[in-house]
Amino acid sequence: MRIIAIVSGRVISGHELAHNPEWIELSVSFTTDVFKAAGKLKFFPSFLRPIVQHFLPEMKRIKRAYATSHRLVDPVLKVRSEAAQWPGYVKPNDFVQWIADRMASEGLGYDQANMQLSFGLASIHTTAMTAVQIVYELAARPNEYEMLREDITEALRGSEGGSIDKHALARMKKLDSFMKEVQRLHPLSHGMLSALKIPFVQFYSNHSNIVAWLRRITAPVTLSDVHFPTDTLVAIPARPRAINSTNWPNSTAFDALRFYRMRERSAADAHLHQFTSIPSDANMFPFGYGKHACPGRFFASQEIKVLLIYLILNYDLRVPSEGTRSHERPVDFEIGLAIVPDPKILIEFKERTNL
Ligand code: HEM
Repeated sequence: MRIIAIVSGRVISGHELAHNPEWIELSVSFTTDVFKAAGKLKFFPSFLRPIVQHFLPEMKRIKRAYATSHRLVDPVLKVRSEAAQWPGYVKPNDFVQWIADRMASEGLGYDQANMQLSFGLASIHTTAMTAVQIVYELAARPNEYEMLREDITEALRGSEGGSIDKHALARMKKLDSFMKEVQRLHPLSHGMLSALKIPFVQFYSNHSNIVAWLRRITAPVTLSDVHFPTDTLVAIPARPRAINSTNWPNSTAFDALRFYRMRERSAADAHLHQFTSIPSDANMFPFGYGKHACPGRFFASQEIKVLLIYLILNYDLRVPSEGTRSHERPVDFEIGLAIVPDPKILIEFKERTNL
């Protein structure tokens, strides 16, 4: 989470805050506290939550986080607005500035400090958990390293000075396929928990009927054969669709090049089966669907690829063997509707010396 907070922070929170240890700690702990607090509050009926929240340590920390965010973000905004008066000042090209400029151009009031915490909430744990799932898969699949290293080095050979630019990242189609196959089998289905009125349930499993794209009906709707009254919760059975054998050959097996082969079929397919694609056949929902599909997925994809390139080129990874489980991929947690990589797993890294 810390690595992702720093990398995302460079674009989202700006260069002034990205390496500030207090800001990094705040972005990570705010996200964790929000999810923990939401989980605890769900144990209580909604009329009790306004009272119970005062007894939760996470809620106390969340309230303090807003104050801390103001203390750290407000001076940055002040310095920037003063510097903007200097001749020749070049505005930073980051989220802080984009938001400030947009709000000013539309004459809207806003709270950058609170927004920054919310952006962290949307971007840090999602990207970190996806990256960890991919790292776990890599650590359990030493046979795929050579193929991935070739894909990466070949793509870098085509860019000026071997630099990692967005074109080189786009050329890494096998790495992209590996990442997407991990997401097919280990999606997050995050962020929709708040719409559910069920207690938090936590258990281990790899085969639940996890759903995604949870929505609450705000006005009655009648489709051809079904009526949804207001307040009905609807969701898509994402997991069954993602591992259904009619949708995917050899559907429950990990196939690193599944999406690579699909992309090779035609020019249209080359665009439809990327890590960031929202497929029209609706067989996968890792980034949601429709007009609220995740807008940060392109950024997340590039961020994760850069991290993986570094790891794959410089290290061999391994899951330590444990009891009868010999270097096997760690089993996921399921928390409510979210699938979460087991946070207690240690991964062994061996530096590659003969590069
Ligand atoms: C691998 C990482 C990520 C995953 C798996 C992910 C997944 C999702 C999902 C499932 C949704 C809900 C879509 C829906 O309800 O239909 C969503 C929404 C959203 N995501 Fe992401 N996300 C990721 C990274 C990011 C990043 C890096 C950012 C920001 C830079 C971001 C910003 C957002 C925003 C603002 C929304 C709300 C969009 C809306 O309601 O219109 N996400 N994301």
